[in-house]
Amino acid sequence: MSTSSTTPQAGESSGETVQSPFSRRDFLRSAAAGAAAATAFGILNPARAQGGDVLRVGLIGCGGRGTGAAREALLADPNTQLVAVADVFADMAENSVKRLKTDRKIADRVVVDDGHRFVGFDAYKGVIETCDVIVHATPPGFRPQHLRACVEAGKHVFTEKPVAVDAPGVRSVMESCAIARDKGLCVVSGLCYRYEFAKQETIQRLQDGAVGDIVALQTTYNTGGLWHKGREPEWTEMEYQLRNWLYFDWLSGDHINEQHIHSLDKIMWVLRDLAPAKCTASGGRAQRTDPKYGNIYDHFNGVYEWANGVRCFNSCRQWESTSTDVSDWVFGTKGVANIQDHYIRTYDGVEWRHESKGPDNMYQNEHNAFLAAIRKGEARVDEYMCSSTLAAILCRMSAYTGKTITWEQALNSQLDLTPKTIDWGDVPMNPLPVPGQTEFV
Ligand SMILES: NC(=O)c1ccc[n+]([C@@H]2O[C@H](COP(=O)([O-])OP(=O)(O)OC[C@H]3O[C@@H](n4cnc5c(N)ncnc54)[C@H](O)[C@@H]3O)[C@@H](O)[C@H]2O)c1
Repeated sequence: MSTSSTTPQAGESSGETVQSPFSRRDFLRSAAAGAAAATAFGILNPARAQGGDVLRVGLIGCGGRGTGAAREALLADPNTQLVAVADVFADMAENSVKRLKTDRKIADRVVVDDGHRFVGFDAYKGVIETCDVIVHATPPGFRPQHLRACVEAGKHVFTEKPVAVDAPGVRSVMESCAIARDKGLCVVSGLCYRYEFAKQETIQRLQDGAVGDIVALQTTYNTGGLWHKGREPEWTEMEYQLRNWLYFDWLSGDHINEQHIHSLDKIMWVLRDLAPAKCTASGGRAQRTDPKYGNIYDHFNGVYEWANGVRCFNSCRQWESTSTDVSDWVFGTKGVANIQDHYIRTYDGVEWRHESKGPDNMYQNEHNAFLAAIRKGEARVDEYMCSSTLAAILCRMSAYTGKTITWEQALNSQLDLTPKTIDWGDVPMNPLPVPGQTEFV
């Protein structure tokens, strides 16, 4: 079913210290301005497709999100066809195509013949060779390696969040973003809240001073547990971990990275992607103590501190039968805001709430923006996906070690979670981290 391959070489370290581009407040703005200027001066995307050209879309990672995202990509542009899919598992690839074929809105543009249903660890290469536009929704552990291959081949990519599970992976994706920018490609991130119009208006108001100077933030992602697919007797350890990827550090980066990243991304967005100076966190396993839950925690609490004194208090947990809360609060000198509710109130009683002006499906919005940018020949690279991923990893590093970790330490961490060999056999598992004993690497 598959070919063995060597360890993904995501972000192999040169041993040099990486200076954080995110420490400079204007890095992302200047990158965006550069891209806009490149377009304005006629330096157009080399892979630019005219409106009438059929764009060949391919899907890598055919699970729930990938199947949904492929559909959204097709809905975003009538001149698209899904022509290839890739997954490590044949059943996932088949089921995804089957589901998409039953959707009347897009069924006639799902044209994946048997020769273009790639299976195994090298399956992604078949999709990259065949397609113009890649929808990438594997577990995050494979993101750096696959994304690099996509941009080196000159392909536009929609890539799910988070973009890595460790610092070598983040550094690799930063390099891939630079390659994409140089080639005039589009790399759009699955950090979908950034594409929700209601959040865009709310956060624009906060950045324009609606609550005065921001002094503190609080973000919470407290939910119940997620799925677990059990273990079949014929599965190898690799198959077991891949089928249950949420629970293994090398595949998901822990749930703070896999899920809470959405909350942390909203905080980073409000603060114009300015990197926090450091984070102090705690965490552990209170409910999910069974070995079937691999080597991740089930709760984290952390405090991020910025150089200007702003703090963000964050909490996430995946606990059954407990109170749930997904919210993000911003406290300023003049008022308070709840981003998730699109609500702002000043201390003297003036209220604002976003009023819907039409459809605002963030998942569809991001693909509409993605395909529109490709058609216009705009180089659009959502580089904040790197800093938001690193923010999640920073908090995890602090919780795992019990130490305060700085942004620069996190960015330069040498801990590479990817197993040395990716094949269908055994997979060694890192021990469950113990604060005070687990070393920062
Ligand atoms: N933006 C959002 O709101 C949102 C929502 C859900 C999931 N996600 C993200 O999407 C990604 C996928 O999540 P999901 O819920 O679809 O998981 P899933 O398990 O349903 O799908 C993942 C698929 O990737 C396949 N896969 C694993 N390794 C692969 C490899 N090396 N090459 C090719 N295919 C591989 C799996 O077999 C599976 O079919 C994750 O990064 C997740 O965090 C984002």
